[in-house]
Amino acid sequence: MAMQLQTRMMSTPSGSHSHHHSPPHAISMAHAHTHAPPPPMLHSPPKPKPHSSLPPEKVEVLKSLEGWASQCVLPLVKPVEKSWQPHDLLPDSSLSSEEFIYQVKTLRDRTAELPDDYLVVLVGDMITEEALPSYQTWFNQLDGVGDKLGSSPSPWAVWSRAWTSEENRHGDLLKTYLYLSGRVDMLMIEKTIHYLIGAGVDVKTENNPYMGFVYTSFQERATFISHGNTARLATKSGDPVLARICGTIAADEKRHENVYSKIVEKLLEVDPTGTMIAIAEMMRKKITMPAYFMHDGRDPHLFDHFSAVAQRLGVYTVSDYVDILEFLIGRWRLREIQGLTAEGRRAQDFVCGLAPRIRRLQERIVDKQP
Ligand SMILES: [Fe+2]
Ligand SMILES: [Fe+2]
Repeated sequence: MAMQLQTRMMSTPSGSHSHHHSPPHAISMAHAHTHAPPPPMLHSPPKPKPHSSLPPEKVEVLKSLEGWASQCVLPLVKPVEKSWQPHDLLPDSSLSSEEFIYQVKTLRDRTAELPDDYLVVLVGDMITEEALPSYQTWFNQLDGVGDKLGSSPSPWAVWSRAWTSEENRHGDLLKTYLYLSGRVDMLMIEKTIHYLIGAGVDVKTENNPYMGFVYTSFQERATFISHGNTARLATKSGDPVLARICGTIAADEKRHENVYSKIVEKLLEVDPTGTMIAIAEMMRKKITMPAYFMHDGRDPHLFDHFSAVAQRLGVYTVSDYVDILEFLIGRWRLREIQGLTAEGRRAQDFVCGLAPRIRRLQERIVDKQP
């Protein structure tokens, strides 16, 4: 399995048939399978999304929380003047050419020894971050919280723009760093980003902000964990600057996770049954990563290959998925929530019993492997 992935995902290090644009040791997100058919999404139009299951009175719930959001969510936005910027962590382009080139040279020396499979995961993470336009579009179609004007003064819209601007630095930073390293096939990466933004995103939340905030609570924690793990691995591979980069991004994701799980906590307080049902619904559909449509024009299973390497390196695993679920159950005190309708209690039982079920399933799969 591991070997197969490597040959599929890496371009061969120098020699045999390297492309003119690929430096030695370049990583291409896909290599073989040039004759494989493109994934179905490139041919058939996406299925129409079911419109929101959210009744008008629930939209009112979100409206009624605007005062709360101004007081409790907006203060968690970091002011621009106090925020880091990608340039803080990159070779300083304001220096003389000589000094700048020296900094690039030391970057290249540091990154020369990073393992190929580590770079595959880092590239996958970076491409995921780079599809940010899709995520902002997704947020803005959520009922009652989306920014319908593009400059709406509602606190939900103010948050979504602030969140987007913070996220915007993640892809910028990782992409510039990887570009300067010379270790990756940038042209292939840019094509993949181009494809991914064109394909869009479907995380199955419909237009429902309850499900949307459950999704983002989970997803931000997942990115916090994975960037934290790429930071740890960068340290191990002798690149402390890259470790700082991944750690800095992970800290942003942690703050975002706090915001989204705080919103779900508030929703549980004002509408326990509706929120519990949304949590169950999201977990039933499974939390899929936003870059699920990742495609490079060659490998029809690119996302699966990226996920498998992430799993193998321990950057993001099935076990992390279950840990996140258990963490959120505890964080939201889902087992203790009272005052639910019968449907709400069924949702509660499903969610609270899910983690051990996934773990048992996973153990069975692992047992079957040689
Ligand atoms: Fe991010
Ligand atoms: Fe984030």
